[in-house]
Amino acid sequence: MASDPAHDPEPQAARNGVRVRLRPVGEDDGPRVVELFESLSPDSVFNRFLSPLARLDEERVRALTHLQPGIDYALAACIDDGGLERFAGVGRFRRVTAEVAEIALVVGDPWHRLGVGRMLLKGLTGIARDLGLRWFDSTIEPANVRLLRFAEACGFKGTLKYQNGLLNMRTDVESLFPANPRDPIEDHPRP
Ligand SMILES: CC(C)(COP(=O)(O)OP(=O)(O)OC[C@H]1O[C@@H](n2cnc3c(N)ncnc32)[C@H](O)[C@@H]1OP(=O)(O)O)[C@@H](O)C(=O)NCCC(=O)NCCS
Repeated sequence: MASDPAHDPEPQAARNGVRVRLRPVGEDDGPRVVELFESLSPDSVFNRFLSPLARLDEERVRALTHLQPGIDYALAACIDDGGLERFAGVGRFRRVTAEVAEIALVVGDPWHRLGVGRMLLKGLTGIARDLGLRWFDSTIEPANVRLLRFAEACGFKGTLKYQNGLLNMRTDVESLFPANPRDPIEDHPRP
């Protein structure tokens, strides 16, 4: 699959120049998932898990690393730290219908704003398109402005709905990372 970064080991450069390689999360990745969790600020933990988790228990680590084939897809953004592989971030989705997947992303706080989230979402978008998925659903904290800005920067088109104090965001997979982004000035010519 040409657009599946899980099959493309070519690393990409983050904004700080560090090489980042995307690869699928595997069953042995528990220690790296825990280490990534420990690099998150309380805000990032809350925004990712929608609860103030203090630690990842064994059951949750297992759920995050033992993926159901054909249903769960997860990519890790890996960096080499003196010969040791570490996770700068992880993005995942779970297919809930033939057209819809629930998506979640997290990037370690030291890695924010370096392009890692964009790499992960682009990788997941490629996989989703290959699978014929149309929509990414996510449930987000309404105060998570970072995520809203991030989604907008990646080409978000879709719907946002309040439900029980949270925002349900439905993103059109086709709208993400458009090959020919529209020029907003052309869309709104001067009178
Ligand atoms: C949302 C998140 C994944 C973004 O990851 P990231 O690696 O920092 O994002 P990127 O560096 O790829 O940013 C891409 C673009 O998004 C926008 N963006 C990202 N973070 C932003 C911020 N804090 N403020 C404003 N714009 C922001 C920018 O336009 C940015 O491009 P630029 O840096 O060239 O201006 C990250 O903040 C995160 O892990 N948050 C905690 C968990 C979470 O909220 N997950 C989502 C719910 S599951």
